[in-house]
Amino acid sequence: MLVVKKGEGVKVRVRVNGVWYEKYVSPRTLLVDFIRDELGLTGTKVGCDTTTCGACTVIMNGKSVKSCTVLAAQADGAEITTIEGLSSDSKLHPIQEAFKDNFALQCGFCTAGMIMQTYFFLKEHPNPTEEEVRDGIHGNICRCTGYQNIVKAVLDASKRLRS
Ligand code: FES
Ligand code: FES
Repeated sequence: MLVVKKGEGVKVRVRVNGVWYEKYVSPRTLLVDFIRDELGLTGTKVGCDTTTCGACTVIMNGKSVKSCTVLAAQADGAEITTIEGLSSDSKLHPIQEAFKDNFALQCGFCTAGMIMQTYFFLKEHPNPTEEEVRDGIHGNICRCTGYQNIVKAVLDASKRLRS
């Protein structure tokens, strides 16, 4: 069991987007706050802070997680990918391209989480049906788009990733 004296931080060492970071934080620090405030990776958003909306979704040790549900201390030693880790050499990832080309965002607040969930989902389901897409992103809420173009974008992204 982790014992922390009053006023002491816990050491969190994580590899995020290929870079190792080591920080001392309060044991109550949420992973999403660690990512945004300690690492400055503000692409990951906080929508509800209660595991409902999915705006904070990142990949942790190969699985998508809602990072407002995980303590930073629980992520110690983990490999994490955030939205900033998807593009390379200033080139958008095919999923990001598909979201852009299918007008799958409006305000964009849900988009990083939606794309990270899509990234995970398409690894598990490289050639999904529309129904599987809808099921795969059901934990991510979008207040703007009505989901239609998001579903189209995920199906388009699956084609791009297969070609
Ligand atoms: S901010 Fe994490 S699920 Fe909404
Ligand atoms: S684009 Fe605005 S919440 Fe999804």
